[in-house]
Amino acid sequence: MLMSKRRRQAEKAKRQGLRAAGRFNAQAMDFIRPHIQPGITTGEIDRLVHEYTLDHGHTPAPLNYQNFPKSCCTSVNEVICHGIPGNYVLKEGDIVNLDITTIVNGWHGDQSETFMMGEVSEEARRLVQCSFDCLYAAIDAIRPSCRASDIGTAVVRIAHAMGFSVVKDYVGHGVGKKFHQEPTISHIPTPEGRRQRLRPGMSFTIEPMINEGVPDGDQDKEDGWTVRTQDGKLSAQFEHTVLMTQDGPEILTLTKDGPQKGHKF
Ligand code: MF3
Ligand code: CO
Ligand code: CO
Repeated sequence: MLMSKRRRQAEKAKRQGLRAAGRFNAQAMDFIRPHIQPGITTGEIDRLVHEYTLDHGHTPAPLNYQNFPKSCCTSVNEVICHGIPGNYVLKEGDIVNLDITTIVNGWHGDQSETFMMGEVSEEARRLVQCSFDCLYAAIDAIRPSCRASDIGTAVVRIAHAMGFSVVKDYVGHGVGKKFHQEPTISHIPTPEGRRQRLRPGMSFTIEPMINEGVPDGDQDKEDGWTVRTQDGKLSAQFEHTVLMTQDGPEILTLTKDGPQKGHKF
């Protein structure tokens, strides 16, 4: 089947736009990573993300997104996601997820990593390892035109084998000119996921949130964002933006200095 010239050009512009956005987002993560140490506040991390992004002429996507007040999310310990940077001082033993999303020439890059502050408990380390392994198992499980549910199947297998649970209520998502768009990427297998195919040209995030205890969370009633585990136990997450190509998944947010596939924490 022949694709029209206009359609081919649009597909190429999308690929190039998303690649540039993912590359810049990863570069921002590489810049911030060494600063995430005990003693820094989550608000200081946010300022670094904000200034680095603006200094390079780009836009932090979270700022003012549905009234989110900061330029990134910092989710500490029992926070599953959407933690708002503020006065909290990171301390030895904490785990913290930093989620950075930037807009580069209209295209979004979205990724997150969980960091261990100095010596953490063995259980915390296992949880961080598990969430990282779940992300890469999911990437390894997908191929052109596979089912979106292949992601959830891979994630659940690894998480449950390690005795952890998978968050259902927050999901990966299509990413492009919009921050959040179709398709929905559940990290557990669902009927919708079995119907949804991941076609070449589609771009989306994979961002499994793995919990030490129950999979459920509650949104903070005051700030309207912070999601905490219902049992107060730990949660960890890693996220990449992925482009499905004819040859398989291409990770758009790979960092130079961050943990690479197979990393042992
Ligand atoms: N970056 C998050 C994600 O992975 C979304 C954060 S929404 C915000 O989808 F408004 F809190 F920034
Ligand atoms: Co995302
Ligand atoms: Co994100």
